[in-house]
Amino acid sequence: MRTKLIAGNWKMNGSKPMVRELIAGILSRLDAGQSSDVMVLPPYPYVPLANSLLENTPVLLGAQDLSRHDSGAHTGEVAGSMLSDVGCSHVLVGHSERRNLYGEDNALVAAKFAAAQAAGLQPILCVGETLEERQAGQTDSVVRAQVDAVLSSSGVAAFSRAIVAYEPVWAIGTGQSATPDQAQSVHAMIRAHLAEEDAIIAGRLRILYGGSVKPDNAAELLEREDIDGGLIGGASLSADGFMAIYQAAG
Ligand code: PGA
Repeated sequence: MRTKLIAGNWKMNGSKPMVRELIAGILSRLDAGQSSDVMVLPPYPYVPLANSLLENTPVLLGAQDLSRHDSGAHTGEVAGSMLSDVGCSHVLVGHSERRNLYGEDNALVAAKFAAAQAAGLQPILCVGETLEERQAGQTDSVVRAQVDAVLSSSGVAAFSRAIVAYEPVWAIGTGQSATPDQAQSVHAMIRAHLAEEDAIIAGRLRILYGGSVKPDNAAELLEREDIDGGLIGGASLSADGFMAIYQAAG
């Protein structure tokens, strides 16, 4: 049984008061009767503050990116070991904004995935096709290639310590979510593809959906068999909206 995970990707938004208010709002809406996990992914500077506010709570903490390198002359970069050191357990790799705005390719994403695991972090590998790729019927092949880059460098066993997030680029921040059928179909394809290597690991892997998840469409997405949670951008900036999605996850 895969428990669901609702993860809030705050992107480049925040301030100290906002972090305090958002986390207080999340904590006040946690429900011991819910089986789902909750995670927040603040911008780097707010990770230590978030970590201290989340101490002794079940809310998980992740970062939005990391360097492929461990240390040294990489001005502006942040190493996985530093993220572990300040309390992160998880980190996004290959978010479409990193791929599309900052030129990260599959090889770099695979290197970041390996660097995260080497630092003891669970990577959340983001994959997804653009609108042009979907219209050209390339969704499955694009997503498979994104998964395969990690599979060939880290091996299938690495997926027992990782999460995958399917985020169609055309659905991110656009208000136009994938339909439950569209998302379920890609999630099932990813799981079946990994199951060709190891059915047990594939069966246990959490595959999140991201892209315009809101309180009013969360339930119909999250009830689908292979949708194990959500990676929430815009709606994660309001404790009310974010925790309504958590409630919908059950
Ligand atoms: P969105 O973003 O929920 O605002 O579409 C999701 C994401 O980019 O992770």
